[in-house]
Amino acid sequence: MRRAFNLLVFQLLFLYQSEAQIRYSIPEELKTGSLVGNVAQDLGLDLKRLRSGRARIVTGENIQYTELKADKGTLVVNERIDREQLCGDVTPCSFTFEILLEKPMELHPVTIEVLDVNDNAPTFQNTHLEFEISESAALGSRFVLESADDADVGPNGLQNYILTPNDNFVLKQHVNPDGSKYAEMVLQKPLDREQQPRLSLKLLAVDGGNPQKSGTVNINVRILDANDNAPVFNQSVYKATVIENAPKATYVVTVNASDIDSGLNGQVTYSFSKSKAGIADLFNIDETTGRIYVTKEIDFEKDKKIEFRVEAKDQGGLTDSSKVEIEVIDVNDNAPVINVMSFTSPVSEDSPAGTTIGIINVKDLDSGENGQVRCAIEGGVPFKIKSNVRNYYALITDAALDRESLPECNITVVASDAGSPPLSTKRTFNLKVSDVNDNAPVFPRKFYSALAAENNSPGISVLSVNAKDPDENQNARVSYILQECEIGGSPVSEYVSVNAETGVVSAVRSFDYEQIKELVFTVKAQDGGSPPLSSNVTVKIMIQDQNDNPPQVLYPVQTGGSVVAEMVPRSADVGYLVTKVVAVDVDSGQNAWLSYKLQKSTDRALFEVGSQNGEIRTIRQVNDKDAVKQRL
Ligand SMILES: *[C@@H]1O[C@H](CO)[C@@H](O)[C@H](O)[C@H]1NC(C)=O
Ligand SMILES: *[C@@H]1O[C@H](CO)[C@@H](O)[C@H](O)[C@H]1NC(C)=O
Ligand SMILES: *[C@@H]1O[C@H](CO)[C@@H](O)[C@H](O)[C@H]1NC(C)=O
Ligand SMILES: *[C@@H]1O[C@H](CO)[C@@H](O)[C@H](O)[C@H]1NC(C)=O
Repeated sequence: MRRAFNLLVFQLLFLYQSEAQIRYSIPEELKTGSLVGNVAQDLGLDLKRLRSGRARIVTGENIQYTELKADKGTLVVNERIDREQLCGDVTPCSFTFEILLEKPMELHPVTIEVLDVNDNAPTFQNTHLEFEISESAALGSRFVLESADDADVGPNGLQNYILTPNDNFVLKQHVNPDGSKYAEMVLQKPLDREQQPRLSLKLLAVDGGNPQKSGTVNINVRILDANDNAPVFNQSVYKATVIENAPKATYVVTVNASDIDSGLNGQVTYSFSKSKAGIADLFNIDETTGRIYVTKEIDFEKDKKIEFRVEAKDQGGLTDSSKVEIEVIDVNDNAPVINVMSFTSPVSEDSPAGTTIGIINVKDLDSGENGQVRCAIEGGVPFKIKSNVRNYYALITDAALDRESLPECNITVVASDAGSPPLSTKRTFNLKVSDVNDNAPVFPRKFYSALAAENNSPGISVLSVNAKDPDENQNARVSYILQECEIGGSPVSEYVSVNAETGVVSAVRSFDYEQIKELVFTVKAQDGGSPPLSSNVTVKIMIQDQNDNPPQVLYPVQTGGSVVAEMVPRSADVGYLVTKVVAVDVDSGQNAWLSYKLQKSTDRALFEVGSQNGEIRTIRQVNDKDAVKQRL
């Protein structure tokens, strides 16, 4: 309705201004057959004249936009009229033709102004605009956007650009000298690729028509990386444990830093910080994966906890660092060590039980149970070990000592730790026991006895005594001493002597059995100790008889060189006892056994002597022929 009213106003206006010339204004894009104007009426011609004059349109153009309806005297749209096609940007837009009448010929120019209708939306040539903008682009940077075209003119033409709201860009519009409008994006807030790697915006171009039309173009902004982020470790400290002596290439821990930049700017390599020397001897770090491995056996006793820093670096040179704490776990790899603080040898055999002979110190470099040491003494020796102060032990005697049964002793101390398996160390102490004169010399027998023939030569040795002393050296050096006593009223030393060193008992004089039959005396054996110890032994020397005395005739008594006379009667019977010879011998035994024999006789057949009893008897009758004197 409103449009129709506008048209009417225009028609009237032009009719009034010119009689000869008709001017119509119509909107573009009317349907074929739509009324443009009542020509007959406007020219003041009746329909008959139009018919008789064969009224028609003449035009130099190929396209005939309008048609004259002679029967109704109206001008109608014949063909679609596109203002934009017809005039482009030129405004106002009109075309002109003539209405020709014959008989008489009349020519009436008709101008039709084509009014713009908002039938075109602003359009962009592309559907997408691509931008690549560094995230480090400065604030205020401008990016010219593609202009949109709107074929419509005037208010129906392009009026405005609108950018979808976003944080980073604002739109700024400009007018070209030709009046066309263009826009640019101006960076008002820094870009951050890491936060938003791309932006998808829409640029809207709107016209002023009613209804309003618009065109859009998508703007894709790809944000290019700048190395504006350093790598960042995901932990401020990495803790790990590693077993002592772990073999080379044992994995320990992985450090991990990420860099949110892209490409080389985000490519991280790992290294040990230079701040601590020697770490590279123990570990290596994989430059790309951050995995840390053992390169050398780690000694817990040297390093219980290893701390160092690692560095992550991107290819742009930005870095971060973090701490690595590696705790080393002890392994029982150290045996206890025994140190001798003092040791006394020899020790006197009279030392009482509980005497300290040595002090040792034990050490074990391992920790915990692996370093807990216990000491003991091996075997059945009379010693014990005692600790009063941690890790210090005293070796003490556990019983009275006796050098004679245990002159030296190997005391083996075993120090073992409580590890699993335990390690132990042995140390042997060679202890010598020194002598004390606690043993007297001992004779192997209760007494000694020997035989000695009488009439011996003085000085011969009769026997020897020998005592042993189990002590040592001077304490075992035995001297023999003859103990004073009397024998037959004389000191024993007048009979025998004893060699102090050898114990040989010798005769001092020649013995006379007939005087003394045996010698009994005491020999003392005494050692060289201080004070000396001694023991006695009884020695008995039995003197043996020798036949050193002839028998002596006691009867009949002979005086001087005279002959003893006996009387025998002529009548004496056989077996008549003439006399009995009595003799004695001071020797003893066989040496004193006597037998009698006739040595010489005048007549062997007359007398005999009893060999046992010395009786002289007749063995036949005495006769007259026998001499008066018989000599025996
Ligand atoms: C680094 O740590 C992050 C999480 O903190 C994880 O997503 C990533 O996979 C890790 N990288 C490596 C190489 O292990
Ligand atoms: C850090 O990275 C390491 C290695 O990839 C991973 O084991 C660890 O769990 C990560 N730490 C955190 C807190 O994500
Ligand atoms: C003590 O040990 C030493 C050396 O091994 C050895 O010669 C000696 O015979 C040992 N002594 C004893 C009483 O075992
Ligand atoms: C040895 O004998 C002497 C004298 O006969 C005596 O005085 C001494 O006590 C004795 N010694 C021992 C150990 O019997």
